[in-house]
Amino acid sequence: MEREIYINGAYLPESRAQVPVMDRGFLFGDAIYEVTAVVDGHLIDNDLHLARLARSLGEIGIAMPATLAEICTIQQDLVRRNAMTDGTIYLQVSRGTQERNFLPDPDMRPTFIALTQPKQLADTRAQTNGIAVDLVEDPRWLRCDIKTTQLLGQVLAKQAARQGGFDDVWLHRDGQITEGASSSAFIVTHDGRIVTRPNSPAILPGCTRRAIMDLVAQDGLRLDERGFSPQEAGTAAEAFLTSASSLVTPVVRIGAHVLGDGRPGPVTRRVQALYMQAVRRSPRILPQSAPYEAV
Ligand code: PDD
Repeated sequence: MEREIYINGAYLPESRAQVPVMDRGFLFGDAIYEVTAVVDGHLIDNDLHLARLARSLGEIGIAMPATLAEICTIQQDLVRRNAMTDGTIYLQVSRGTQERNFLPDPDMRPTFIALTQPKQLADTRAQTNGIAVDLVEDPRWLRCDIKTTQLLGQVLAKQAARQGGFDDVWLHRDGQITEGASSSAFIVTHDGRIVTRPNSPAILPGCTRRAIMDLVAQDGLRLDERGFSPQEAGTAAEAFLTSASSLVTPVVRIGAHVLGDGRPGPVTRRVQALYMQAVRRSPRILPQSAPYEAV
């Protein structure tokens, strides 16, 4: 069965879902994206992701392609049509299609696509054993708070880290860790405090990060929003990263530094447990026949 992809109002088999060559997303990376997790049929932190989609589009002046409620309906339809119990829903909105020109026409119609990517997101080997992250100078532009599809810096950094024997990479700028190449970065100090840097144009405001900050506060864990250096990270008691696609993943080695005994620590385990409890409380997309016909 071919995957169905949503594209500008229609659900199409993947082989027929096409975007014009002159689309500005393709030519200029002039596009915004979002990624929401589906775990065991539950839709995770989706209100946060849709709010961030609206914010990112607003920051670069692309019109919303539909209301947030309509987008949520599309996400749920796609999950049902593709019978995806575990994986991600990817949304992308580009400014639209026109003759190649740096200056966009003011009245362009955005190109809106949505697709599902089935994948096991919970109980992964990385979440069980922890991962090793490399450290590199942050190569990105200065508006990392906008979730654009311009991801070449992250692609190259991840590729180099993988070639160097690491699982992933954390970025640093001006003596401080900014974030992971596709995740928010956290460390745990030797007195048990969780540390993550405050939101700013230097990082993406992570939705998983936001959810976790609320969960740890309710649980009585202590969390400080402050910057931390690569040196502090390398000598931390524990570390972890968060994202829609990796949930809460322990980091057990940073560059050459093994943290503690090289196994995920108790604070990270607690954060993982709190997040999985929240996942199980999240709204479930029940399998039912889809209300739209493919065109
Ligand atoms: N990336 N920082 C960056 C640079 C990211 O790309 C991501 C997510 C995050 C975490 O955000 P959230 O918790 O809202 O997923 C932080 C997604 C998963 C991606 O690009 O596929």
